[in-house]
Amino acid sequence: MTQVTREHWASRTGFLLASIGSAAGLGNIWRFSYVAGENGGASFLLVYVLCVLFIGLPIVIAEISIGRAAQGDAVLAFRSARPDRPWFVAGGLAVAGCFFILGFYGVIAGWALKYFVAALSGELWQAPQHNHYFKDFLAQPLAPVIWQFLMMAVTTGVVACGVQRGIEAVNRWLMPVLAAIVAVLAAYALTLDGAAKGLNFLFAPDWSALRHPQIYVAAIGQAFFSLGIGMAIFLTYGSYLARSQRVPSAAALIVVGDTLLAVVAGLAIFPAVFSFGLNPAEGPELAFITLPSLFALMPAGHWFGTLFFGLLVGAALTSMFSIMEVPVAYFMRRTGRSRRAVTLSLGAVIFLVGVPASLGYSILATITIAGRNILELYDFGVANFLLPLGGIATALFTGWGWGRIRALPGADLHDNATGKIWLFCLRFIAPMFIAIAFFSNSMVLD
Ligand code: TRP
Repeated sequence: MTQVTREHWASRTGFLLASIGSAAGLGNIWRFSYVAGENGGASFLLVYVLCVLFIGLPIVIAEISIGRAAQGDAVLAFRSARPDRPWFVAGGLAVAGCFFILGFYGVIAGWALKYFVAALSGELWQAPQHNHYFKDFLAQPLAPVIWQFLMMAVTTGVVACGVQRGIEAVNRWLMPVLAAIVAVLAAYALTLDGAAKGLNFLFAPDWSALRHPQIYVAAIGQAFFSLGIGMAIFLTYGSYLARSQRVPSAAALIVVGDTLLAVVAGLAIFPAVFSFGLNPAEGPELAFITLPSLFALMPAGHWFGTLFFGLLVGAALTSMFSIMEVPVAYFMRRTGRSRRAVTLSLGAVIFLVGVPASLGYSILATITIAGRNILELYDFGVANFLLPLGGIATALFTGWGWGRIRALPGADLHDNATGKIWLFCLRFIAPMFIAIAFFSNSMVLD
C-alpha cells in the first residue's frame, strides 16, 4: 500500500505540543537534575542556556526546515535537498541511531512506570531503604523487562494510530497536564525550608566553576539530549508541517518550552534536596534513589512523589513517540507497507534492542567496558558519538551543503542579521564546539 497523501499535523499548536513533548522528557527531569547537580547548578545552567541558544536553536531551525522542504523522511530529505552528494548518510545514521536511543530510553522509562505504580500502590513508601529497593528491582531479570515492554507497547500503539490521531492527539491533552504537574510540584517545593538554598544553587552562579572544562562538555551533551537534536526528530516532525507554517518562531517556542520545563523541574527537585540536607551531585541515581527517600519524609511527600513519577512517565512517553516516528517514517516509505504493520514490527525490534540494556543489571551484569554496563554504554555512545555526529552533520549540511541560497528561504529567514547569525552558527560555532566536546569526551574514554 503506498501512501497517497502525506500525513500532516491538524494544527500548528498540535505540531508545537508534539515537538515540545519530544524535547521534554527524561532528559529534562532525570538527566538535567543530576547533570546540573554534578556540575555546580547555576554556572552549569548559564553555559547550558548559551549552548541552547547558539547551538541548539540553530540546529532545531535547520532540522524543521529540511523536513518541511522535503515533506519526507530523514534519508529522503537529505537526498532531495542535495541529490548529488552523499548527505543521505546522515539521514541513515539518524534512523539507525533511533533504534539505540529508544532501546535504552524505553528501559529507563520502564523504571519510571514501575516507580509510578509502586508510588500509587504505596509499595514505594514502605521500602525501608530506597537504594536497596532500586537495586533489588534491577537485579531481577524479568520485572524490568516487563515494565520496559509496557512502555514500548504504549508507544507502538500510539504511533501506529498516526501523526494526527495518535501522536498529536495524545500530546494535545498530555502536555498541558504535564506542564500543570511540574508547576504544582515546583510551587510546593518552594514552600519547603530548603527553597532559598535550592534557588541559590540553580540561579546564583559560582563564577569560578566556569574554569572547569568539564562543565562545557556536559552542557553541550545535555543540550543535545534534552532538545533531542541530531537524530532527525524535528526533521521528521517538520515533514508533517505545511509549507505555510513559519519555522523560526516555532523553533524558538520549542527551545524555550524545553528549557523552561527543565528549569521548573529543577525548581521542584533542588529545594527538596536541600531541605533534607542531601547532596545534589548524586549522579544518575538521583531520581530513583535520593528523591524517593526524600518524598517518603516530606510532608505530603507521597502525593508529591506519585505526581513526580507520573510526570516522568508522561514526559518519557511523548519523547518516545518522536524517536519511534523517525524509523517508522523511513520504513513506511522504503517498504510501502502500512503504518500499522511497520510500527508493530519496529516496536518489537526496538524492544529487543533495549532488552540487553535492561539485563545489564542482572544476568548480563558481568559485561562491562571501562566500568560501564550495557545501558551506560548505550547512553554513552548515544550522547558522546551519535548525537554529536548527527548534530555536526545537520549543521554542516545546512550551512554548507544546502547552501545560503536555498537554506535561508528554506528556513523562512533572509539575508539580514538574523539569517547571517543563523548561518554562522551552523557553519562555524556549532561544528567547532561540538567537535571540541566530542574530542575531549573521547579522551575521557581512555
Ligand atoms: N529530548 C528527550 C528528553 O529530553 C529525549 C529525546 C527525544 C532524544 N528525541 C531524542 C534524545 C533524540 C536524543 C535524540 O528526554
